[in-house]
Amino acid sequence: MLLLGDMFPNFTASTTEGKIDFHSWLGESWGILFSHPSDFTPVCTTELARVMQLLPEFKKRNIKVIGLSCDSISSHHEWCEDIKSYGGFSSDEKFPYPIIEDEKRILATKLGMIDKDEISPSGIALTARAVFVVDPNKKYRLSILYPATTGRNFDEILRVVDSLQLTDKAKVATPVDWKMGDECMVLPTVGAAEAAAAFPQMKVVPLPSNRTYLRKTPCPQP
Ligand code: BEZ
Repeated sequence: MLLLGDMFPNFTASTTEGKIDFHSWLGESWGILFSHPSDFTPVCTTELARVMQLLPEFKKRNIKVIGLSCDSISSHHEWCEDIKSYGGFSSDEKFPYPIIEDEKRILATKLGMIDKDEISPSGIALTARAVFVVDPNKKYRLSILYPATTGRNFDEILRVVDSLQLTDKAKVATPVDWKMGDECMVLPTVGAAEAAAAFPQMKVVPLPSNRTYLRKTPCPQP
């Protein structure tokens, strides 16, 4: 079982942009691998189009994105035309990120992305909507698994990466519904003296327990 903080397993795969070695393809970037049940399905089409629209936001955060669907490369290429059209892009535009083919469910099985309740017309289980976030050290930092019937919210995925990138740099955690720029929490592991020195604008929120664990500070510079 893959645990947060583990090295994300490397793999080679055929994609719409040719064969890749995942770790080499990532280079110095963060990576988001997201899987889909299959090509030419409605929810998946909306998701891939949204990722295409959000690509400048992914680039700003030094994130490379890669999709996976259990159909063939030629099917993916044909589907990309629908995705571009749905997303409002010109058919002349190159599809801007690779999609892995996984007809034999090798990667889907290895990474626990199979949804046994979703069966293809040929009787094989499809992939769920998995999201894996990998950092530039190739560490597995986050995953979210959705069933086929629920499309993902890619604004939430960007928000999560904002939190990961910020909390890698500053000794803070991000509270409920946090967005970049909002107040943060000083990490519980930072002692009182260190917290006061590092976060001069910190405010301790009074609580019935009289404990001083809820310490807010303005969002540090990312
Ligand atoms: C979809 O992408 O719309 C979808 C795919 C498989 C099952 C349900 C929905």
